[in-house]
Amino acid sequence: MSNKIIELKNLSFVYHNKNIIDNISADFYRSEISAIVGSNGTGKSTLCFNIIGLLRPTSGEIHFNGKKIVYKKNYLDKIRKQIGFVMQNPDTQIFCSYVKQEIAFSLANLNLDKAEIDVKTDKALDLLEILHLKNLPAHYLSYGEKKCVAIASAIAMDHELLILDEPTEFLDLYHKSLVLNILDDLKKKGTSIIISTNNYDFACKYSDNVLHIE
Ligand SMILES: Nc1ncnc2c1ncn2[C@@H]1O[C@H](COP(=O)(O)OP(=O)(O)OP(=O)(O)O)[C@@H](O)[C@H]1O
Ligand SMILES: [Mg+2]
Repeated sequence: MSNKIIELKNLSFVYHNKNIIDNISADFYRSEISAIVGSNGTGKSTLCFNIIGLLRPTSGEIHFNGKKIVYKKNYLDKIRKQIGFVMQNPDTQIFCSYVKQEIAFSLANLNLDKAEIDVKTDKALDLLEILHLKNLPAHYLSYGEKKCVAIASAIAMDHELLILDEPTEFLDLYHKSLVLNILDDLKKKGTSIIISTNNYDFACKYSDNVLHIE
């Protein structure tokens, strides 16, 4: 098996006649932390949406595990079980009324029984040190707390590839460091990770390779 988990091949994406992603080719590697770095509005979130299949490239291709991503529902449903995605804005991501439901909802799609779902839910919340939020309505939470819930929800799924759009946005210093340590541990266990960030120094310090877009 190739060591490339994601390959961008001459990828372009146009929003209303505006070229947001312009003919990018790049590779992201298995069991590494890769960073997509660029200033505000350079298309980092748009690129993440293309990889996860929420947006369809205008031209070019994206390959996942050596196979071209086909932008059809059945195929996308399948790869979304293998690729976790944490959106930049947790309000866009979180849709369940309660924190515990938010984590358990995705796990229920894996055909796990209730006891397993409960264990994995608690484990993910504990990892992010937010077990105390478990029974709260999601709309009670601060932005930083919501971001932690979104990250816990993705991590609970044990995906082989995790894409996190601005994973430390809204987080205090303690939780930034906690999340980065968690991502590092996941990498050591074999998870492939792609993060987006507007902070070049941060990208260089915490990732194994950097894709700079402008
Ligand atoms: N739905 C949309 N319709 C038209 N243009 C859009 C849409 N969404 C985003 N854009 C434009 O695409 C460009 C890239 O946006 P994107 O959100 O991908 O940037 P980003 O690099 O993630 O920025 P940030 O650092 O602020 O998160 C921006 O100029 C934005 O205005
Ligand atoms: Mg963005």
